[in-house]
Order: sequence, then structure tokens, then C-alpha cells
Amino acid sequence: MRMRKKKHGEERLRAAGHLLCTSAAQTKEDPYAPFIGDKKPLHLEIGCGKGQFAVGMATAHPDVDFYAMERVSDVMVCAVEKALAASEDGFDNLRFIVGDAGTLADWFAPHTFDCIYLNFSDPWPKAGHYKRRLTYRAFLELYKTLLKAGGVLRLKTDNEGLYDFSLEEFAAAGFRIVKESRDLHNSPYNEGNVMTEYETNFSSRGMPIYFAEVTV
Ligand SMILES: C[S@@+](CC[C@H](N)C(=O)[O-])C[C@H]1O[C@@H](n2cnc3c(N)ncnc32)[C@H](O)[C@@H]1O
Repeated sequence: MRMRKKKHGEERLRAAGHLLCTSAAQTKEDPYAPFIGDKKPLHLEIGCGKGQFAVGMATAHPDVDFYAMERVSDVMVCAVEKALAASEDGFDNLRFIVGDAGTLADWFAPHTFDCIYLNFSDPWPKAGHYKRRLTYRAFLELYKTLLKAGGVLRLKTDNEGLYDFSLEEFAAAGFRIVKESRDLHNSPYNEGNVMTEYETNFSSRGMPIYFAEVTV
């Protein structure tokens, strides 16, 4: 996501300090450390953008603890400010990490997550860039180690090319399809669907949303 440099970005991130995780050592040792209350299922969104999905999910599912990761700190400013606006003190069950998906093994121990979300990940359409796609097999191997037994990975995209590539990569990495739709919004899997910013935009233009849930 391209974004003009935010004014006072660092300061604004610091103002939401309690929502932001900055110690990978802490989350790796105890993924519940940043959360308040009982231990709940743990979910992770990778590439959360401006945070609409993360905030919507944390609101709809108080029984789940959510991490949302985003590599662009100026984009993360929008996400944390959205969380603060939606709830006076932010949320008990939502924490943000500024970081790249490639560093996830520094942040979390194996078998941490019940669910990982990839929402409208950058498609990297040039053939030579396929290793950068977040569903490239090297990333899938990383997610596999982070998922608990029986955990699932959920993908949503507007991009048919990325979707077809992802299905091939899932098979290559030993993931099994649990749910699949080339038109999520007109499928039974749409019940309870929380839309992302990109999803809201693409679907308002009549574009189908591709969806898959996979497990190992
Ligand atoms: C196309 S945007 C979609 C944003 C949001 N998920 C949505 O659906 O509205 C993709 C986001 O993923 C982030 N991103 C891309 N590669 C990433 C990576 N390797 N690690 C973390 N975030 C990444 C980008 O900075 C961008 O904000």
C-alpha cells in the first residue's frame, strides 16, 4: 500500500503504545502477554493495511485475541487510530505489530495460532516476483509452523491470478482445501464475513471476491 508520509507518524504510533507490540522476545515467549483477561484462541492477520478487518473482527469476536501485522508504519498509524476511535481505550483483544511477514518466526513460537488471515495481499503480478507473494511456498512453510494442529489459513483476494497461484502453492506445501469460492459474497461462506478496506472497494465495483480456507 502506497501512502504519503504521515505527519508525526512516530509520535502518533507511540500515542497508541499499549496497542502496539514492540518486543518480539516477549510475544515469542508468551503470545498472551500483551492481552488482558483469559487465554483465548489466537488469530493473526498479515498485511492488515488500515485496520478495518482487524477492528471489525476484534469487535465481532471478543472471545478471540487478534494480532494484526503491517510492514508500513505510516499505514499502521491509520490502523491503530481506527482501533482507538472504535473503542475508547483501544481493545483488550487486539494488538498490532509493525513488521514484515518474513520476520514472523522472530515474533512467535511454533504452534501459536488457530487462524491466519491473508487479505488482499499484494499480487506481485510480474513472473519474476512470484517469491514475494505472501502465498509463495516459503511463506506457507512459515505459516505451517506457526499454526496449531487443526489451525486454518484464510485467504481473500480480488486477484484471480494470485488466487490460482495460491491454490497451486497450497497443494505444493501440503495444505488441504477446506472451503473454496470464486464468489465469496454470493456463497454460503459469506455469513459473518467481515470486510476489509480493499474488499469494500472492490465489491462496490461489482468485482467477485476469491476465498479459500486451508489447513494442514
Ligand atoms: C493491498 S493492501 C491490503 C490491505 C488490507 N489487508 C485490506 O484488505 O484492505 C496489502 C497490505 O499488506 C502489506 N504488506 C505487504 N507485504 C507485507 C509483508 N511482507 N509483511 C507485512 N505486511 C505486508 C502492505 O503494506 C499493505 O498494507
